[in-house]
Amino acid sequence: MDAFSLFEKHINPGLAGLLRFTGLDKVESHAQGVYVWDTEGKKYLDFLGLYGTLSLGHRHPKVVEAVRRQLDKMPMSVRILVSEPGARLAEKLAEITPGDLSMVFFGNSGAEAVEAALKFARFYTGKVEFITTEGGYHGKTMGALSVTPKEQYQQPARPLVPGVKVVPFGNAGAVLEAITPETAAVIVEPIQGEGGIRVPPEGYLKELRRVTRERGVLLIADEVQTGLGRTGKLWGVDWEGVEPDILTSAKALGGGVMPISATIARAEIMEIYKREPLIHSTTFGGNPLAAAAGLAAIEVTLEENLPARALEMGNYLMSSLQSLWKAYPRFIQEVRGRGLMVGLEFADADIGALVVAELASRGVLTAFGLNNPKVVRLEPPLIVEPVHIDQCVEALAGALKATEAALEGVM
Ligand SMILES: Cc1ncc(COP(=O)(O)O)c(C=O)c1O
Repeated sequence: MDAFSLFEKHINPGLAGLLRFTGLDKVESHAQGVYVWDTEGKKYLDFLGLYGTLSLGHRHPKVVEAVRRQLDKMPMSVRILVSEPGARLAEKLAEITPGDLSMVFFGNSGAEAVEAALKFARFYTGKVEFITTEGGYHGKTMGALSVTPKEQYQQPARPLVPGVKVVPFGNAGAVLEAITPETAAVIVEPIQGEGGIRVPPEGYLKELRRVTRERGVLLIADEVQTGLGRTGKLWGVDWEGVEPDILTSAKALGGGVMPISATIARAEIMEIYKREPLIHSTTFGGNPLAAAAGLAAIEVTLEENLPARALEMGNYLMSSLQSLWKAYPRFIQEVRGRGLMVGLEFADADIGALVVAELASRGVLTAFGLNNPKVVRLEPPLIVEPVHIDQCVEALAGALKATEAALEGVM
């Protein structure tokens, strides 16, 4: 049986169906930089970048080399000795995150980083409630799902973690109203990713910081998607000079080569480790291979000045998309984003899906937001060049034209 059929039979038949619909019933073969090839030899421009993970593109040579070196030395930690790559990465993260964030818990995925953030917030405050935002996406493990208010994902998993309040995104006043004496923390993405690349009004994060500080509530900045340069600054909160109490990072932290996540907090928030060193732990989190990738990823991001590059390329991409927006106002409702976190909002999800399929047939990979299928997101590697952006925009023009022709008489 071929790999696609095996995936359909043993892993996820529904997703296989969706992939088939978008013409992506293919098997990937290899990748380099901004390109991916399938087993039939077709080459794709990767403008999804593993949902904003591949900031350095596929197989960045410095990350591959760092991982290779560690692989030859010691890929896994025995855990009852201290691992140097993890310790050095924790030091680096303390150095490059805002304010006095200095303690690090390592996990393997964004959801694990969020789970840890929620638990440490409860440990530290002794309070139980959380406030999250409409459209927010924080992962799908039980705790992370509990602060990801999407009925479709939450309903079949209930009962969830109790004590979660949902407020509109972009409204700090609503957070203030929702705070009770039992509120442990507010969790927020500086820019919503899966919610449809939603940039909050200017001043929102600053106001959130003010309100939470005033009321003695922790602020968790979920930078799993916005972090490490994607929005044009190293961290999304840097746009407003905000220092959260806890910051979560994942995706780009592994340099596109290894999975790794980090929950970075002010020292006192993780003080419980002094009394209870095993209160929260994981076998694989921050393993030497992943930590080596993380160290190399941060080095490349800073060395190549990728946040500034993301801003420049993102501005070029968004300005290139303006003419398409003007040409197809019936289809495209908005082009928005910051840096290389760009969203195209379509009039409805079906049109977006048709465009994604047409783009795939033209060799460009994109996808819609998990919490907002009307929005097709463009999150290419930060190493993208203008020629790749031109190629994507040209494919998009063709995709929109073909979608219009397909819908003629239907709309
Ligand atoms: C902001 C944010 N937080 C958390 C997650 C969950 O990360 P993971 O899929 O690695 O569990 C995501 C994933 O897209 C995310 O965008």
